[in-house]
Amino acid sequence: MSEHDNLPERSSGSSPVDLSKGHVEGTGGLPARFENPGLPAHVHRHGDDDDAAARRSERQVAGLFVLSMLATVGFAVAYFAIDKNSTVTLPLVGVTNALHVALGVTLGLSLLGIGLGAVHWAKTLMSDEEIVEERHVLRSDDGARQGAIDVLTEGGESAQIRRRPLIVYTLGGALGLFAVPLGLQLVGSLGPLPKNDLSTTLWSTRIGQRDGKGGRKRKLMRDPEGTAIRLTDVTLGSVFHVLPEGINETEHPLNEKVKASVILVRLEESKIRSQRQRDWGIDGVVAYSKICTHVGCPVGLYEQQTHHLLCPCHQSTFDMTDDCKVIFGPAKRPLPQLKISVDTEGYLVADQGFAEPVGPSFWERG
Ligand code: FES
Repeated sequence: MSEHDNLPERSSGSSPVDLSKGHVEGTGGLPARFENPGLPAHVHRHGDDDDAAARRSERQVAGLFVLSMLATVGFAVAYFAIDKNSTVTLPLVGVTNALHVALGVTLGLSLLGIGLGAVHWAKTLMSDEEIVEERHVLRSDDGARQGAIDVLTEGGESAQIRRRPLIVYTLGGALGLFAVPLGLQLVGSLGPLPKNDLSTTLWSTRIGQRDGKGGRKRKLMRDPEGTAIRLTDVTLGSVFHVLPEGINETEHPLNEKVKASVILVRLEESKIRSQRQRDWGIDGVVAYSKICTHVGCPVGLYEQQTHHLLCPCHQSTFDMTDDCKVIFGPAKRPLPQLKISVDTEGYLVADQGFAEPVGPSFWERG
């Protein structure tokens, strides 16, 4: 006698398939219909007929929502009050960032309070009767619509929304305040506003100036050597990659370099076509931004015979004898020129910053 012989018959009239007997014809032993398991029986709760127990549950639910509100306020306080570099030692974890711990714990408690409050409310006060809604055509008839309204109203009544204003207010407060950490993180993590950082370079400031006044003009320095360049160093055919004097002493030298890089060449003065270009240089020595006006690659290829500057990224080509106008490629505007002169010791210096923003043409620059 096999163990399958002992299996009980299903109430539907079907029996389990005995695979030890080989292939099975027909339905494969599946019942034609599955029994409806029905709804679990209602479990009597104290609050169902004891008003004092119901009020106790109400206070417990409200307490959980209040806990959520306090945790949310704690999140906001921790966000501003705790130094982002401070640490704390936790058992099993070791030394870790105190701000992250505080934000995680308070945010977790905030969510937990709302979740536990909602579950406790549902389990102790809301009706646990299941309501079945039959399928119907998409647009319900008026009777069904009224029925839906009645069901919703009944649901509201059974949730005791009107009778428990304390829960409604505290839930509203908990959910409303919960939006605060999300907004705080979004706004607080965006970083500082760029102000006019994208449209100015270090060339527009002077060495040793205070409150925008005084100081002396910045020298043109070789990149990467960091040595000053005399006018006499720039012979015909030579090319210098240039950065402003003092760039390594700035707060963000790399940010400054990507905006202030300049290329310096000497042209035969007779070949310079624009009078302004001639005036902004000296003895045929001219300086132009090295940042491509297409999408910002360094324009580092200089063709000595044609005096063309080539950007290696998308082949934009600029004519140095014609004020660095674009003669080929996707760039839409010339490279900005840096106005230079010579100081009393013979070094090249910048008279002022670029007259227009350097780098990619976008929005109003185009
Ligand atoms: S970045 Fe120079 S051509 Fe595209």
